[in-house]
Amino acid sequence: MEKIVITTSGTLSEIFVGKPWEVAAEMIPERGVAIITDENVYNIYGNRFPLFPVLKIVPGEESKRLKVIENLAEQLLDLEIDRSGFILAVGGGVVCDVAGFLASVYMRGIRCGLVSSSLLSQVDASTGGKNAVNLGEIKNVIGNFRQPEFVICDTAMLQTLPEQEYLSGLAELIKTGIIGDLSIFEIIEQNVTAINNRDSILLSDLVARSVRFKAKVVSKDEKENNLRRILNFGHTFGHAIEMHKSMKHGFAVAQGMLFATDFSLQKGFISSGVRERIINLLQRFKLLEEQYIPVNQVEQHIMHDKKRTGTDIHFIFIEGIGKPLIRTVPVSEVMDFYRQIKTGK
Ligand SMILES: NC(=O)c1ccc[n+]([C@@H]2O[C@H](COP(=O)([O-])OP(=O)(O)OC[C@H]3O[C@@H](n4cnc5c(N)ncnc54)[C@H](O)[C@@H]3O)[C@@H](O)[C@H]2O)c1
Repeated sequence: MEKIVITTSGTLSEIFVGKPWEVAAEMIPERGVAIITDENVYNIYGNRFPLFPVLKIVPGEESKRLKVIENLAEQLLDLEIDRSGFILAVGGGVVCDVAGFLASVYMRGIRCGLVSSSLLSQVDASTGGKNAVNLGEIKNVIGNFRQPEFVICDTAMLQTLPEQEYLSGLAELIKTGIIGDLSIFEIIEQNVTAINNRDSILLSDLVARSVRFKAKVVSKDEKENNLRRILNFGHTFGHAIEMHKSMKHGFAVAQGMLFATDFSLQKGFISSGVRERIINLLQRFKLLEEQYIPVNQVEQHIMHDKKRTGTDIHFIFIEGIGKPLIRTVPVSEVMDFYRQIKTGK
């Protein structure tokens, strides 16, 4: 078991990797707790939940809506959860985003802890204190930064994850390798079979490496003023594809990473050999499916992207595997490149 600590302006968040998720029962108060989960996770793990009221949401991205937050807040009021209350989230990235956001605004903020149950949330979503819901087709536009008290990442829970969800999480793990920790990339390259078999020891090691890397970045720049932007590698296009094609987050990010890698090559930041290595790894897990989104729709998404300032956007390139590069580029240049690779014009 490994404990990784994120320290930000006055708060301390503890992330446990390799601890059985059931220990969450010992980390929450004796009263005033509400558990938030989704129906799928509840059907598998609900009979082992601590004995507190359970609020269930519909699984999937459609639950990242303000109306769901409102409905859950009404249920908390009905349960007479007051400012001393505690929310325990058990689920993937959607549950963690929704529960984290709710905890941050209910009664101006109550305590919360997360049991992170999907690979995507273990390697990325549950670490770092970003909470958000979507507005229309724009992802994560209503949200805030607030760290949970604890996060538990038990890789045994990944055994029950559907294959496509597992692969989706793998894309974010590969992203961490590309932007910050070459060892993650190399371990994945060298252990494709063990990863496909969901080897628990290997996964615990990879999740811990990814959390350690993200914790370091978030501790330096919680509010994404500079360094934290690197975590968005592949996300400018990824979010456009995710919302337009209703694609799973990791698959959309893989497409976005392909675009960002090609853009880095076009700019002369990387060699074609580095590009090949990245594409090969994504393809080995069938993460790349050709997707076309009309140029005007991509532009519309980018204009609403949180990384945009005026007519420019902070775009995350790479200079090599493990070497991110933040550059401010005009949105028009990004769009020209998209048009060029997708239509040849
Ligand atoms: N806050 C952040 O920093 C951050 C970072 C990355 C991604 N995200 C968000 O995370 C979301 C995606 O997360 P996700 O892929 O975990 O999606 P998800 O929460 O929808 O989970 C995926 C599916 O797996 C099921 N599931 C979860 N754990 C399971 C388990 N142990 N066994 C069986 N089924 C299980 C869920 O019910 C769901 O159907 C997106 O909304 C994305 O924007 C947030």
